[in-house]
Amino acid sequence: MTNHAYMRERTNRDLSMIPGAYGLPLIGHTFTFINDNVSWVLNNHRRYGPVFKQSLGFQNIVATVGPDLVRQITLDQDKVFSSQAGWEGMVGEFFQGSLIVQDFETHRMQRKLMQTAFKAESLHGYIEHMNDIVQFRLREWPKDEPMRFYPAVKTLLLDIAAKVFLGAQLKEQGPRINKAFIDFAAGATSIVKKNWPGFAYQKGLRGRQVLDQFIRQGIEEKRHGDGTDMLSHFCRERNEAGEYYSEQAITDHMLFLLFAAHDTTSSALTMAMHQLAGHQAWQAELRNSLREIDADTPTFDHLGSNIPELDYTFKETLRIYPPVPGVIRRTIRPCEIGGYEIPSHTMVSTSISGTHYMEEYWTEPRRFDPLRFSDARQEHKQRKFLWAPFGGGAHKCIGLHFADMLFKCLMFNLLKEHQVGYQSEAQAHGKILYVPFTRPRDDLPLIITKSKA
Ligand code: HEM
Repeated sequence: MTNHAYMRERTNRDLSMIPGAYGLPLIGHTFTFINDNVSWVLNNHRRYGPVFKQSLGFQNIVATVGPDLVRQITLDQDKVFSSQAGWEGMVGEFFQGSLIVQDFETHRMQRKLMQTAFKAESLHGYIEHMNDIVQFRLREWPKDEPMRFYPAVKTLLLDIAAKVFLGAQLKEQGPRINKAFIDFAAGATSIVKKNWPGFAYQKGLRGRQVLDQFIRQGIEEKRHGDGTDMLSHFCRERNEAGEYYSEQAITDHMLFLLFAAHDTTSSALTMAMHQLAGHQAWQAELRNSLREIDADTPTFDHLGSNIPELDYTFKETLRIYPPVPGVIRRTIRPCEIGGYEIPSHTMVSTSISGTHYMEEYWTEPRRFDPLRFSDARQEHKQRKFLWAPFGGGAHKCIGLHFADMLFKCLMFNLLKEHQVGYQSEAQAHGKILYVPFTRPRDDLPLIITKSKA
């Protein structure tokens, strides 16, 4: 990792020029923010405008909301925002060497390692494996009796990760690797970031070690093989000097990728099913459009944008419940944000979730209304970056087409012949947890039945 001079500077904590309040001593607004970050952001926006200060996880941060500021901070046309200095304190030891903690030229060179793995030809190949795994798991899921969707979808996505990302048949190693991954993800998102015995952080680092070794041991063989999994693509990729990327770089990138893909997509699928269970008329409409596709197994082309209702469902789910609610950066030089002069080395965040709920743009933003994305309405097109669940600029999510395809693959296979409902109607208003990733507190018990219509 490049050690830029600005990484050695202390963070500026003086935000006296910015309106707003820090909240309680030490913890600031951490708990309010965790409970309902959208309401918190919107209240501040109403009171102070699109730029205000916040104290979160012991950091003083210039918080921003609105499409123009999401655009300024993610596109970073003047190259004043460091993602490395922004994210490093939060993801620390878990994601060292990953793309999110790299800046500018180093980041550009490292991102090239992933280019083949995310090309359309590679995605075409992944869909076959996804279909096989999804169809296998769907046959196993109970019918006509309650099943908890969230843990079930997480297990399914772990199977997909093993096959599509690592090209591994885990067999007897499966439980050990799955446990290592679960500990790793829990550690990486733990609030108490202390390497103390018994704490999630420490277990997470141990899980990271297990995964690191597992990935590393396959690299040499994959360099000379013809595998079509992501890891094989990474192993065969060469840098601008024509050399293979180092084992360290490959494992660091793969570990972040596994994490970045897993919880975000599990959350999106779970929250989509939550909405579809509560909106049966839309679910039936979606099923009808899936039935117009004359195939039992969807291809890459089917899942593209050929099924508008499926696309609107994906977009509306990510609008209401963006799995990454905001991004964080640190300034490397003084700059202007929304009319305020921001000093060097100041933490700055921008709220994707708040922007997705701004009443100036969205009709009844709290309502699930997939047709707001239809050609006739196009609410999201009023402003660039009004809908930005995947961020933007140099760090824009590299897995967005993968996430789109995975989401649609599961929806197609599940909903074409099945109807999905809540176990109890009270679930429609049940508690939602937002941290570390959005899901219903009860893990979403659902009943899947063969659809008659
Ligand atoms: C619904 C699912 C997903 C959402 C909402 C999402 C969202 C995001 C966002 C907002 C960022 C930008 C963060 C920033 O600028 O600070 C990001 C970056 C990233 N995402 Fe995703 N993501 C999703 C799924 C995936 C998947 C499936 C993969 C991989 C297969 C992936 C891999 C990455 C990587 C590697 C980065 C870092 C890119 C860079 O720094 O250059 N994500 N994601």
